[in-house]
Amino acid sequence: MPNPEGRGRASRTKPPAPRRLVVTAGPTRERIDPVRYLSNDSSGKMGFEIARAAAERGDQVILIAGPVDQKTPPGVIRVDVESARDMLGAVKTAFLGSESRAKGSFGKKGGDALFMAAAVGDWRPKRRLSGKWRAKDGGDEVASLELVKNPDILATVGRRKGSRLVVGFALETGSGLKRAMAKLNRKSADFIVLNNETALGANRTTVAILGKDGSRVNITNKTKRDVARALVQLHYSNSAPAE
Ligand code: C5P
Repeated sequence: MPNPEGRGRASRTKPPAPRRLVVTAGPTRERIDPVRYLSNDSSGKMGFEIARAAAERGDQVILIAGPVDQKTPPGVIRVDVESARDMLGAVKTAFLGSESRAKGSFGKKGGDALFMAAAVGDWRPKRRLSGKWRAKDGGDEVASLELVKNPDILATVGRRKGSRLVVGFALETGSGLKRAMAKLNRKSADFIVLNNETALGANRTTVAILGKDGSRVNITNKTKRDVARALVQLHYSNSAPAE
């Protein structure tokens, strides 16, 4: 026989309120000329799994993706970008808020959490050539390309985040723990997810989630889908939904 008390208890357990999440994924491309660019290795899998995990929980998700070969998860709004500067503009619009009602915007209120999983290029060529960069026959054996620093997206929006949740990633070769911890402060992030190059393109990953409060959670050899679910959970336990 059904237990009415049990039913009553179940109905009192309210699901968490949906949040507005901004997720970045994939590499950026910095054009040298119409057919060449500088980029990073990144499949985009981790960011796409975070977007999927959040959408499955009922969150509204804007996924800002560099050039990747990944299917958009159901219910996720995807904005495709190419360069770091394009990505910065899209993150500001989605996370910090904008008057725009366009596809990649939550309106003036912006997002209430940012997961910055993209592998953003640190440098871009100072000049973009309008025609192909040609090697001259019998010319020099050495050429150089002048580079300028790209904006740090996480640090830029992190400074203006207020109480909203910001999670960054750090891909370090070797242990990298100290460097990842330094990024927590430098980029005003609440958490940095430390991983290494074995994660590139893989389905499984090992991460350490470092909190600005000194916390550290290790997740060893799990699928990116499982790690994504754990990361999305951070956002329910650490930030109040913005109005
Ligand atoms: O300094 P590093 O590139 O290791 O920092 C990684 C974190 O910072 C990632 O979350 C990445 O998305 C973000 N980042 C950024 N803008 C950059 C470089 C990295 O937002 N120009």
